[in-house]
Formats: sequence, structure tokens, C-alpha cells
Amino acid sequence: MSSKNILDSIKEKISDFMYVGPRGIVGVDIGLSAIKMAEVALQSDGSYKIVNYASVNLPEGAIIEDEIQKEDEIIKALQECFKALGSSNRFACVGISGPNTLIKRLQLAGGSDEEVEDQVSWEAEQYLPFPIEDGNISFSMIGENQGGGVDVIIGAAKKTVVTSFKEIVERSSLKVKIVDLNASAVLNVFEVVMGDEIKSTGKTWILMDLGAQKTHFMIYKNGVLVFFKEINIGGLTITEEIQRQMGVNYDQAESLKIQGDGSGNIPEEIIEIINQVLDTFFAELKKTIDFWLSSTAEEAFDGCVLTGGSTQIPGLTEAMEELLETEVQVLNPFQVMSYNKNNISENQIDEIAYKGVCAIGLAMRSVPK
Ligand SMILES: Nc1ncnc2c1ncn2[C@@H]1O[C@H](COP(=O)(O)OP(=O)(O)OP(=O)(O)O)[C@@H](O)[C@H]1O
Ligand SMILES: [Mg+2]
Repeated sequence: MSSKNILDSIKEKISDFMYVGPRGIVGVDIGLSAIKMAEVALQSDGSYKIVNYASVNLPEGAIIEDEIQKEDEIIKALQECFKALGSSNRFACVGISGPNTLIKRLQLAGGSDEEVEDQVSWEAEQYLPFPIEDGNISFSMIGENQGGGVDVIIGAAKKTVVTSFKEIVERSSLKVKIVDLNASAVLNVFEVVMGDEIKSTGKTWILMDLGAQKTHFMIYKNGVLVFFKEINIGGLTITEEIQRQMGVNYDQAESLKIQGDGSGNIPEEIIEIINQVLDTFFAELKKTIDFWLSSTAEEAFDGCVLTGGSTQIPGLTEAMEELLETEVQVLNPFQVMSYNKNNISENQIDEIAYKGVCAIGLAMRSVPK
């Protein structure tokens, strides 16, 4: 071991030893529109408390899909966000998503652990958008399937994506302990907030993260994730359409969409643009749902839960209810989680509830020993 490596490893041991906070981790969600960080503590009664939260907006096009475009701007925003978080915890769990990641349920023939592992590799290879040797794959068992085999859920990501997100967070001075998939972080919060209601046998729920660059569409049945799809439409699609049709820049378009004319009213022509994009989005959603319904014996859903900044689009929840013919609600972590009133102000609560879920889910991961 070179002297530098020895020094580094000692430094790491010392900082581990000196670590005095709750043995938690900072959840870092680098979304297209903003970085969000959260810190969550597991209470002795098993419930969660949101200890710290912060978000910092990113400039236009800082990341595109899973590729980092504006490195310096992201590092600056990460540092600013961490400062605003006000935490002494330097361990992070960073989330990734995008075309070089995969979440999929696989039906396998089953057998010994080794046989199942081989089957996962064989099967996963067909769906991975990159050569299997370039990726990290993990899987968890769901249970036996009707054909006598086993079902598993695999999570995979291209190593270069994992490395680039890990490196950029580490350059902002946090120590990355875990890289997780954003969708699985959202799922964590969904399971905690909804509790037993979603776990009963025979119940089928839709869970969606309506972000800026994409929508994560998930179906949760009998207490497990059974279907996942990333739809390439999100809030940014509306913003870009406002830019194009109104001849304004990104920031102006975001502001027209969110704040409207300054007195809280969204102008008629903006509503029209929003509705045009929603039509396309709903058509895509309907295709996805029809595909799923036709490949299973399902007929209806027991409920739909939404999260993400684009849940705030005026009229979206109602339109979604009509499309899905089921009750639609926005996931609210505060329903079951308490929060530290010294660090989190009342006027942050709403934003955290719809934009912070992914960061909260990432922060719920415990630090590996
Ligand atoms: N009040 C609002 N009305 C309409 N849209 C909104 C509102 N507030 C936020 N948004 C939109 O929500 C999106 C940001 O949501 P979110 O923070 O969940 O996305 P992200 O995590 O940055 O993106 P992604 O997950 O796709 O990378 C933006 O497109 C923003 O314009
Ligand atoms: Mg997001």
C-alpha cells in the first residue's frame, strides 16, 4: 500500500470513528430541475423523522438523462445544497435513473442459488441496454411463480453511470456509501407511507414519479413491484413547448408554468399548451396500461399514488382519475413521518411532500458496515 493510500484509509477510519450523528446517510437526488438532499432518522418506535432537507435548482440542461453535462454547475449546486442542509453527516446515498438503468421483473425456472444467478444473467442480458459486463446487477426474490419457478426483480445500472454520479458527489466533499436507483427510493417511501393498505393480496396499485425529464410508471401488486417503465415525458416537455410556442427562454417558461402571470393565474395560452402535452402524455400512459392489462388478467386498479414536481400541474390529478378510473392521491411522507421543526420550516413542507420523496427514500437506506 502506498503511503497516500495508507493515509487515506486512516483518514477514512478516523472520520468513521469521529462520526457522532444518528447513524444515517444523506439522500442525494440529482434531478434535472434541482438537487434535493434529505436526512432521515429512524426513531426507536420504528417510525421515521425527517431531520434535514434542502434543494437547489439546477440550470437548464445540467444533466440530460443519465449524462452529466454541466459538471461545475452541479458541483457548485451540490455544495450549496449541502450547506443549506446544515448537516454534519458526510455519508451519502446517491440516486440514479435513466436509459442506462433497468428495473425489471423476471420469471425464472428456479433451482439452486447458483442456478438462479445464472438465469438472472442470461435473462437480464436480453433487456440490458449495455453489455452485461459493463453493468452492476442486483436482484431480489419475489417468490414462486405459477410455472413452478421463481420470480425476481432485478435492478441494474451501467458502471460508468454509477461512477460518474458517485464521483461528482464526492467532488462536492460528501462520501458516497451507496448508489441506488431513484425508483427504488420512491418505492421505499410509498411502502412506508401507505402501510398495510397496499400490501394485501389481490390489490393492484399504480405509483408514478412525475419529474421533469421523465415519468416513472410502476405497478405494485400483492405487496411487490411487478412492472416498471420509464416514460420520456415530464414537466420539461411542457416547459420546452412553452419556450417554443411563446418564444421565451427556459427560466421564463418555467416561471410562466409555475407562477403564471405573477398574480397566481396561469394564462389561458399556457393552460392550452399544458393540455396539449398532457394529451400526448395520457395517450402514452394509456398505451402502457393497456399493454400491462392485456398481458395479465387484471381489469382495474385499487388506487394510484403520485409524486414529483409535475403532480402540481393544474387539473392533473382529476384528469388522471378520469383516465385510470380509480382514486388518485399525491404521496405525502408527512402522513407517517415527523420532522425536525428547528431545521425544517412550515413553508418547506409542501415542497418536500411532492419533490422530496426520492431524496427521503435515498436517505432511508442505512449505512453499510
Ligand atoms: N406548481 C407547479 N406547476 C407545474 N409544474 C411544476 C410545479 N412545480 C414544479 N413543477 C415542475 O416539476 C418538475 C420538477 O419536479 P421534480 O423535482 O420532481 O423533477 P426532477 O427530479 O428535477 O426531474 P427528473 O426526476 O425528471 O430528473 C419541473 O418540470 C417543474 O417545472
Ligand atoms: Mg426526480
